[in-house]
Amino acid sequence: MENVFKILVNGKDCQIKADPETPMLYILRNNLTLNGPKFGCGLVQCGACMMLIDGVAVPSCTYPLQNVGQSEVTTLEGLSQEGEQLHPVQQSFFEEQAAQCGYCTNGLIMASVALLRRKSNPSETEIRAELQRNICRCGIHARAIRAVKKLADR
Ligand code: FES
Ligand code: FES
Repeated sequence: MENVFKILVNGKDCQIKADPETPMLYILRNNLTLNGPKFGCGLVQCGACMMLIDGVAVPSCTYPLQNVGQSEVTTLEGLSQEGEQLHPVQQSFFEEQAAQCGYCTNGLIMASVALLRRKSNPSETEIRAELQRNICRCGIHARAIRAVKKLADR
């Protein structure tokens, strides 16, 4: 049965009418037309669908709408305000050309943002550990790690 939920996404109050069990990935993409998060596996195994919940990177493909509550949801689209420059992590990925087909990029960037929020100067080992759960079929992991390391070294 559908219920009405009020959630905070990218700084905006959103009213959503949906089944409480609906995974956030569908709410973000279908209800809110936020297409940053991607559907990869749907099984919490690839990381393509990452969003931030109160600053923590969480796979949205299995996270039910009803669990959001008062938490703040951030997607790739919410990292920089419209018309403003890229978020430093986006800029660094761009500079390091850390994308090929780009399907995994959302997840890698959101996981990197969460890591750098938690720890501003992570070691390469910590960066590798954090990004290990994000699968990239194109093999750009080395470039992604370099992009994050560049920010950590600043
Ligand atoms: S689509 Fe969510 S982890 Fe793969
Ligand atoms: S750039 Fe293609 S899956 Fe990562």
